[in-house]
Amino acid sequence: MEQTIEVGLGERSYPICIGSKVLAQIGPALQDKQVGKRYAIISDDQVAALYGEALLHSLTKAGLACELITFPHGEASKNLATIGQLASALAEQGFDRKDALIALGGGVTGDITGFLAAIYMRGIPFVQVPTTLLAQVDSSVGGKTGVDIPQGKNLIGCFYQPQAVFIDTDVLSTLPREEFLGGMAEVIKYGASIDAEFFTWLGENRPSILALDATSIIYMVRRCCEMKADVVEQDEREGGLRRILNFGHTIGHAVEAASGYQLIHGFAVAIGMQAVAELAVRAGIAPLACATAINELLLAYELPVTIPKDYSAEALRGYLQTDKKTVGGRVFFVLPEGVGKVRITDAIAEVHLDAVLAGQPLA
Ligand code: NAD
Ligand code: GLY
Repeated sequence: MEQTIEVGLGERSYPICIGSKVLAQIGPALQDKQVGKRYAIISDDQVAALYGEALLHSLTKAGLACELITFPHGEASKNLATIGQLASALAEQGFDRKDALIALGGGVTGDITGFLAAIYMRGIPFVQVPTTLLAQVDSSVGGKTGVDIPQGKNLIGCFYQPQAVFIDTDVLSTLPREEFLGGMAEVIKYGASIDAEFFTWLGENRPSILALDATSIIYMVRRCCEMKADVVEQDEREGGLRRILNFGHTIGHAVEAASGYQLIHGFAVAIGMQAVAELAVRAGIAPLACATAINELLLAYELPVTIPKDYSAEALRGYLQTDKKTVGGRVFFVLPEGVGKVRITDAIAEVHLDAVLAGQPLA
């Protein structure tokens, strides 16, 4: 039941293996690939308790030496202090340049582990084993790694591609429902910005997706990975095209910041997608039917679509200005022209942005 797709980046190409019971196959796969001599599995405490043993078992059964190293779960751990602690643990346990890291967890674990792998002993290989829907469809693919500093999220980091991504969709069964729905916002992002047919499929297959039907989930995750791989292959370092993956994220990040990072990332992205759809309608770029379709699909997956009333437009504008995607004070928006097709522009009339940030309904 396992499917493999390739991220084609020349000598940095790697496979994404997707399916049920993939966790048990990681040991044999790593033995074949010979990624490292010894492996340090890096995981947060919650994911380690759920899946650490299973992954250790898969590796040791394949004759591979491995250790599990954990850190406290949550975004608060995604900082340079954690990088320092994990690097010290690796050094104390004698991990060297021939060894490799395995990121077992959500986006926080993947971003931390990828960055640690990029800088430990000036760079050692790593593989991704994503366990949240967000990490399976987005953060584990494409090589963005890094940590937060008090001045902002993801401000320290680098591009560093994994050697392989192993996606076991079975692990989604233990994911809290809110986290699953937050991941669905990123899934909807791909349909709304790149693939109208997939957008329709998401609407038609809602019951089986929410019931975690294996065939539907594997197809859904695979299709998202294919789209991400396709974009990353064309623009690995976000010189242009890769910016389309930020659909919903510009206003979404401002909403997330305004919430003091209390709002789940995917919920903020859902609000951001609805906001840019309305912005596009106001600017005459998209028909009203596009904003309506995006609104209906987000609501079908129980996602929020309105900017909370107590977030002032002025505060949101301030966050837009400090976003790392803002260049020379120019805020770029990824706007839909219709479902499945976007345009990137900074030419948006202030009056339209004001109306959207103030939550004024479309006429
Ligand atoms: P996360 O890694 O914090 O995981 C969310 C929570 O779910 C954690 O408490 C974790 O312990 C728990 N969890 C994970 N898998 C589980 C499972 N299978 N069962 C039960 N509990 C499980 O958060 P996330 O939403 O996966 O990732 C968010 C992070 O990803 C942010 O830091 C964001 O900046 C980053 N991100 C990176 C990229 C990229 O391209 N590198 C893209 C998008 C987001
Ligand atoms: N999550 C957006 C990107 O990887 O570019």
